[in-house]
Amino acid sequence: MTPGAKLLAIESILSEVLSKVINTSASADNTLKTWYRKNKYVGSKDRKEISNSLFGILRYYFILNNIINFNLKSFDFKFSFQLVLIYYILIKNNYEYVLNSFDDGPYAPKMSEKKLKYLEAIKNISLSNNYLNSSFPNWLYEEFLYSFNKDTNSIFKSLLNEANIDIRVTNASQRDYVFNKILKYDQLAVKTPFSPLGIRLSKRLSLKHIKEFKNELIEFQDEGSQLATLLSGVKEGEVILDLCAGAGGKSLLLAALANNVKVIVTDFDSNRLNKIKLRHSWNKQKNNIEIYDNYHNINLYADRVICDVPCSGSGSWRRRPEEKIRISNNNFSDLLLVQQNILKRAAKFLKVGGELVYITCSLLKKENEDQVESFIKNNSKFQIVDLKYSWDNIVNSKSWVSKKKFCKLLPSIHNCDGFFIALLRKFE
Ligand SMILES: C[S@@+](CC[C@H](N)C(=O)[O-])C[C@H]1O[C@@H](n2cnc3c(N)ncnc32)[C@H](O)[C@@H]1O
Repeated sequence: MTPGAKLLAIESILSEVLSKVINTSASADNTLKTWYRKNKYVGSKDRKEISNSLFGILRYYFILNNIINFNLKSFDFKFSFQLVLIYYILIKNNYEYVLNSFDDGPYAPKMSEKKLKYLEAIKNISLSNNYLNSSFPNWLYEEFLYSFNKDTNSIFKSLLNEANIDIRVTNASQRDYVFNKILKYDQLAVKTPFSPLGIRLSKRLSLKHIKEFKNELIEFQDEGSQLATLLSGVKEGEVILDLCAGAGGKSLLLAALANNVKVIVTDFDSNRLNKIKLRHSWNKQKNNIEIYDNYHNINLYADRVICDVPCSGSGSWRRRPEEKIRISNNNFSDLLLVQQNILKRAAKFLKVGGELVYITCSLLKKENEDQVESFIKNNSKFQIVDLKYSWDNIVNSKSWVSKKKFCKLLPSIHNCDGFFIALLRKFE
């Protein structure tokens, strides 16, 4: 593809993502995949640039939007086109590339006097020192400030980076074997620094290679999600209820963590559970996972209830940056209520002596510490278990950042998706 055709392709995909983001749950990743299916002629190098730029623009979305509002309001071009140009010129520092892309072939953007003025106007903007402050709309900025105080900017900065591509093996003993095999296709792959089960790829594995690894039971799972599952404290012989199992990212690993465990999985959204059934079909832990489409049909007391609750997803906004554009202050308040209700429901399924595991992939205090502390206040039969000891056992590292008994994984420190994990024991 010529650079001009690429810029127009990025603009067109971006425009589609933005048109869907508010009113549908469509992901940028799926929109991009559909575009690739319709444009099979696009080579792998071009695909890489298109997807890196699309996700880059979505990560910088509010910063770019702010630049338009403050510096370029007098120009009247299509919004998505402006975002692409500003991203390439100011963030990627690639003015010449953009300039030469115009009129570089039949599929390129056409140059005009007005557009040339626009490109020059962008070039003359210097990013202010506090550009990170416009990373989010005001209400979200306040949520981050409440959660991180003086560390807010380092969190904002980390959310502008690319997400990792991590896979995990089922047992730590398999990691070296799989890692050596992976190195044949990806010489830059490394073992994940904290999870003993993870391998970090430097590029996507092709479908052919994914099929080849089926027998090794690898799964795509971010290191943060691996650690959240490992920290759930699963013990031999337990009955575990995974209340928000979704597509089963954590359920399969829960079922493999100790001998003789039984995992009951359910979710509010039965369509998501269908995906577990699919993943399940090439997984060895077939006999110890039971799927319930409707949690009302579950009648048991579990040793461990996993609540991987729906949340803002702010810990994974590097991976799904469109989510930060989608979320509103109202959605956020609704999510807080859903989380409280799930905690209440989970408590009813738990045996005395059992443990409730509260997990979010959120960075925000109101979804994390505040939820757990308010639950404990209203449920005097529960106490918080200190996760620091499990962290030391599993991770064997000094990178514990929480000042409390909860575990916090931060993209700015652990360079994985952000997670919050709390363990609550029912003692009476
Ligand atoms: C963070 S996702 C779970 C991800 C999954 N555990 C994994 O590891 O892939 C949260 C899940 O909660 C489900 N959910 C939403 N509202 C719910 C509710 N009121 N009760 C139970 N599950 C709910 C969603 O359908 C979603 O699958």
